[in-house]
Amino acid sequence: MAQTAVVVGTQWGDEGKGKITDYLASKANYVVRYQGGNNAGHTIEFNNEQFKLKLIPSGVFRAEKIILGNGMVINPESLIEEIKYLNDRNVSTNHIRISNRAHVILPYHLEIDALQEELRQDQKVGTTKKGIGPAYTDKYARTGIRMGEFIDKETFAEKLKYQIDEKNVLLSKYNKPINTFEEVFNKYNQYADYIRPFVTDTSYEIDEALQQGKKILFEGAQGVMLDIDHGTYPYVTSSNPSAAGATVGAGIGPTKIDEVVGVVKAYSTRVGEGALPTELKNELGDYIRKVGREYGTVTGRARRVGWFDGVIVSHTRRVSGLTGLSINLLDVLTNIETLKLCVAYELDGEVIHFVPSTIKEFERCKPVYIEMPGWTENITQVKHFEDLPLNAQNYVRKIEEITKVPVVIISVGPDREQTMILKEIL
Ligand code: IMP
Repeated sequence: MAQTAVVVGTQWGDEGKGKITDYLASKANYVVRYQGGNNAGHTIEFNNEQFKLKLIPSGVFRAEKIILGNGMVINPESLIEEIKYLNDRNVSTNHIRISNRAHVILPYHLEIDALQEELRQDQKVGTTKKGIGPAYTDKYARTGIRMGEFIDKETFAEKLKYQIDEKNVLLSKYNKPINTFEEVFNKYNQYADYIRPFVTDTSYEIDEALQQGKKILFEGAQGVMLDIDHGTYPYVTSSNPSAAGATVGAGIGPTKIDEVVGVVKAYSTRVGEGALPTELKNELGDYIRKVGREYGTVTGRARRVGWFDGVIVSHTRRVSGLTGLSINLLDVLTNIETLKLCVAYELDGEVIHFVPSTIKEFERCKPVYIEMPGWTENITQVKHFEDLPLNAQNYVRKIEEITKVPVVIISVGPDREQTMILKEIL
């Protein structure tokens, strides 16, 4: 069995990674998140309790140590809120470590995120307005504030002063509320005091753990189609959810990754703008949305729904090097007479098997489908693959065939118990 594994979303996020990470975390010593911030949202259910998390990996309930890696952008207010939320529900957070190289989201990032969306008019990305893009912009412009600097009062003051002046030029130009240094500093310095004990060199800790033979799970947020390089640019997030992001975003070398598990819905969903070739804008789409409870954890927005798209998941296999698939929400497809799976696109009269790089071409892609008969049996309590109705088994096997990735986990309901393990990973 593997020592390390990365879990990635293979579509546009919301594949139900939280539940799978929670399961794999039970086998891991450490769980590490390597990108994104509180734009993500995951829901975990067990013992009839439901937890909603944004920043903290779902492994928090089980793992020995939880790491928020250097590739993340962290909103201190949101982090503290989440820590308190967990503590109030008797979940310990003493095992959380935050990278001193992770970047801090400050109030002006949220204001600029909203402003940029407003200025884009009919080309909006549909961001979560959590300041993610502007925080990563500062990181790459080399003006961002890192956790290690944030918890050092003097450095934080120096850098913040410069940042506030710079950001106010932009915000005042568009008559947006501006921040004063004192206001932000006083508030955020208190947050820094709270967070300080959690901050450390997490890459060092991970390396030590690896040397001790500990098992490590790397958790990607969002999905590969939202990856800044390999997603449907510009309708993407500003980080690298793909598996390769785990190495840079956690501070480990690529040689340290053994397995990559891609989490996939038995159909497709997407929030925000951007093309979704297999979208179902009809009653069947509404039905799947309702049965699958397809509403965003962070923004509450209704997710757009479509058939399973094999071109997308094959793209993810390629750019993330998937070694196994976890199929989620298979139960949602029960009672649909005929199921469709997209196996290629037709683009300007030509059949293609890849995702075009430009949005304009992607928008013109028409799905090429195969059809399969559905099933009517309730599968929510099925524990073994062989006990699934034959048509459900065939549907799963077809996904394997299209994507060329073996299925290792099947989920048929939100609870921990409603999971079939076809192959142990960690
Ligand atoms: P941002 O990450 O807030 O900048 O948003 C960029 C795009 O990524 C938007 O289309 C969001 O809806 C989408 N997005 C960001 N985080 C998630 C997520 O966790 N699940 C699904 N979509 C997301």
